[in-house]
Amino acid sequence: MSCVQLEGINGLPKLQITAAKSVVEVYFHGATLTKYVANGKEIIYVSENAIFDGVKAIRGGVPLVFPQFSRPLASMPQHGFLRTASTWKLSSTTVLAPDEITVALTTSANEETLKYWPYQFNATFIITLSSTHLKYSLQIQNTDNNAFLCHTLLHTYIKVPSIHDITIKGFQNLSYIDKLSTSSLPVQETHAAVAFTSEVDRIYIDTPAQSIPDLDVAVEGKPYVRVSKRALRVTVDAFEDLPCDVVLWNPWVKKAGELADLGADNFPKFVCIEPGTVINWIPLEPQQILVLEQVLVPL
Ligand code: BG6
Repeated sequence: MSCVQLEGINGLPKLQITAAKSVVEVYFHGATLTKYVANGKEIIYVSENAIFDGVKAIRGGVPLVFPQFSRPLASMPQHGFLRTASTWKLSSTTVLAPDEITVALTTSANEETLKYWPYQFNATFIITLSSTHLKYSLQIQNTDNNAFLCHTLLHTYIKVPSIHDITIKGFQNLSYIDKLSTSSLPVQETHAAVAFTSEVDRIYIDTPAQSIPDLDVAVEGKPYVRVSKRALRVTVDAFEDLPCDVVLWNPWVKKAGELADLGADNFPKFVCIEPGTVINWIPLEPQQILVLEQVLVPL
């Protein structure tokens, strides 16, 4: 069990965390988790053409999205500023059990973020690795004197042998917004297992009446990885569950080709399964904490 700092691509610093036969790597740039290998199985995808220049968001891994998803506010970059922040620092490393380790990175509001968004906050990214699974959690605390509204999302790129061979179970009967449609009306998912034959860009909507269950990814019908998620708002003495939507994205050949740091040939190598609080802006009062977590269980 260990957590060591190493030089990554282009000399950018990263942490390498190991527990039993599992390894995770996370770059300080954007606190972007870029590797999860469990018993020799690579679960996280990073583009062969990703740009590691300490400025651009890393194409792949688990980019952290806050305080906006997409670009509803044109004054701020798409998906906010956490995924490109260069201010992330290691804040703690804790061995929880003989095969379980937790590592936390933090950053907070600074000159750069205040250019886009006039609020004080602390952000913590907590990674817990064990021999059976990986859990990570983005925690945003409002340290301002005023309430703010925000989105959060974990933009996870799951590495798959081929997008043509995978199916995902768990979405049936849920409503989703199809970001590729001109209509913003929700559509109902009819498929017991979602397969991919063209570009997909959807937001599955989590509601108390229809909450999104664990999602099971299969490759050629065989269990591959289970993806679960949760969002919470924590106050001094209580917490409440928040809706936790799931974005499903694969750009397919044309859009992948338009992204210089991805490339047309690479679209079959991943699927993005992205839990987040994105359908509604979440209000956070001073001192409240929004917790967004995702668990990956290789099967
Ligand atoms: C997804 C969005 O979450 O992120 C897509 O639903 C978007 O619409 C994709 O294209 C990638 O975004 P970016 O900013 O990393 O290119």
